[in-house]
Amino acid sequence: MTEKATMKAVVIHGFGGPEKLSVEEVSIPKPGANDVLVRVRAAGLNPVDWKLREGLLPSARFPMTMGIDFSGTVEAVGPAVKKFSVGEEVFGQVEADDIGSYAEFCTAPASACAAKPDGLDHVQAAALPVAALTAWQALFDLGQVQPGQTVLIHAAAGGVGSFAVQFARWKKARVIGTASTQSLVTARNLGAEEVVDYRKMKFEEMVRDVDMVLDLIGGDTQERSFKVLKRGGIIVSTVQPPEQQKLDQFGVRGLMMRQKPNGEQLQKIGDLVAAGTVKVNIEAVMPLDQARAAQERSQSGHAHGKIVLEVA
Ligand SMILES: NC(=O)c1ccc[n+]([C@@H]2O[C@H](COP(=O)([O-])OP(=O)(O)OC[C@H]3O[C@@H](n4cnc5c(N)ncnc54)[C@H](OP(=O)(O)O)[C@@H]3O)[C@@H](O)[C@H]2O)c1
Repeated sequence: MTEKATMKAVVIHGFGGPEKLSVEEVSIPKPGANDVLVRVRAAGLNPVDWKLREGLLPSARFPMTMGIDFSGTVEAVGPAVKKFSVGEEVFGQVEADDIGSYAEFCTAPASACAAKPDGLDHVQAAALPVAALTAWQALFDLGQVQPGQTVLIHAAAGGVGSFAVQFARWKKARVIGTASTQSLVTARNLGAEEVVDYRKMKFEEMVRDVDMVLDLIGGDTQERSFKVLKRGGIIVSTVQPPEQQKLDQFGVRGLMMRQKPNGEQLQKIGDLVAAGTVKVNIEAVMPLDQARAAQERSQSGHAHGKIVLEVA
């Protein structure tokens, strides 16, 4: 267990823009009975981070340390934790409102963590939890994707989309992805058989009879997606609940999902990455002190893969 009582962390004291982020010295969190305390080596960014900062999601305990995804080394365990021991390398996601992973230490429920395979470095591992679990749960828990089915994945080269394309291919589904010109090659390399440049073409004029749409964009993109589904197909959105009236009109199913922490699924995903079956599409690795620039990049809505903060 560390002798230190305080640590460096990126915190906010109220909602607002990227200028609200500040690097401060704060108390090291204490693990609860079912938690691990982790010395963070890398913290992955997700759009939910800046959405939390802006006050767009229900969460308001200040000061709030930012960040959900992490990879690092177990520093201490709560009395009820059997799964991990001190010194083990783990990756996972924090769950408490005020605990974050943009920090030298964080706590997380042991159930939300997985052992980091040796074949995975901390940056790769920290890029996985929220994005890869979202893709996994959307495709397999909700979409029930089967071999031979066709899946349309919007934003196929972004954080969630990059994993979704590869998971669907691994399941032997046929993948069509939307992306902008500069990401078409990436989407294809990840496993999309067909790619549609969303800025130049209308996917609804090129695609039809798909079994599932993974909607990572919402708005007009979701609106135009109903008609490409076959009857009985499903649209799963991470951003906006599909309107029931539209679902009825097109004879399709649909839902808005919320990603759930899941250490077992995360372990399977980590093993797929370590085996080389799934690649981690990293856009940028930045030092913790540059959390503001990292969130600005994420908030642009045009990240081409995962952004990860390295914690020295
Ligand atoms: N509900 C949940 O539990 C949950 C979980 C995870 C994520 N989410 C949400 O899901 C969304 C996606 O997350 P993410 O991590 O994948 O985000 P991301 O990494 O920031 O994705 C950005 C990607 O979106 C692409 N894009 C932008 N506009 C597009 C359009 N009209 N059509 C197709 N692609 C477009 C961009 O491509 P170009 O730059 O090439 O334009 C970029 O590659 C976010 O809103 C996030 O908050 C929700």
